[in-house]
Amino acid sequence: MKNSYGLQWNLHQALKCAILIGDFFLNHFYRITMAPKHGQLIYEGKAKRIFETDLEDVVLIEFKNDATAFNAVKHEEFEGKGRVNCEISSHLFELLGEAGIPTHYLSRVTDCWMRSKRVKIIPLEVVVRNIATGSLCRQTPIEQGTKLFPPLLDFYFKDDGLGDPLLSEARLEKLGLISEKNQLNVEEISLHVNDLLKSFFKKADLTLVDFKLEFGVDGNGQILLSDEISPDTCRIWDQRKSDDKDRILDKDRFRNDLGGLVDAYGEVLKRIQGVSSKQHNCS
Ligand code: C5P
Repeated sequence: MKNSYGLQWNLHQALKCAILIGDFFLNHFYRITMAPKHGQLIYEGKAKRIFETDLEDVVLIEFKNDATAFNAVKHEEFEGKGRVNCEISSHLFELLGEAGIPTHYLSRVTDCWMRSKRVKIIPLEVVVRNIATGSLCRQTPIEQGTKLFPPLLDFYFKDDGLGDPLLSEARLEKLGLISEKNQLNVEEISLHVNDLLKSFFKKADLTLVDFKLEFGVDGNGQILLSDEISPDTCRIWDQRKSDDKDRILDKDRFRNDLGGLVDAYGEVLKRIQGVSSKQHNCS
């Protein structure tokens, strides 16, 4: 009896192992066969890889399944996250482009691949907040859930080694990473993006709590909204849910061990697609 149980247990473990290995190779094969033709890897970040193309001023961006938090101390892979984030980002960049925001986005290629203009990223993270939460509440006595109107806009220095520190106006000037004119331009674009996204998300019963933007400069010296806009870089709450945890549809699900990350991101995509198709049907 004991032996037959032991045998069953070993068979069960062997089967589980075979499924895991098969899954790994299938995903790997899928990733390679779905990849569009690309050149050299230019840069690999925590959530994306950037590749050269035949055109000097065009790059291919691959959205990875990796999720990181707390300056990459926490790391996990989520099957399907790259594709969903690529699709959400593409949708939002298209929406912003149509509204006149200058962005690096050119087109979505397949699956988790996007084509964009080549830019030199300015090492600044622009964070816009509509509702107080996250680091703002950890670092100040401002209470969780406080509505911020006008929205709060802060610059952070994009440097993992230094933990992306918050910059004062004086430090920003001292660093000399951006001219005064471009800084004003970036601030104006970021607040305009906030207005556009906030009202778009509202139509999908979603609240845009806060988000981070990055900007780059193209070959002509033009400032372009770059990087990605996805639940990895935004906090998004579901207006159809009242529970503090259930309503979270962004990377806080991973940061706070709430589970259901890919389902939550998928819900954001579904809602965005719903609003977009309604808008197209009306026009
Ligand atoms: O952590 P904190 O509250 O400052 O984050 C504000 C917003 O910026 C959140 O939406 C978060 O996802 C985003 N963020 C980001 N990348 C960072 C820091 C913050 O996308 N390095």
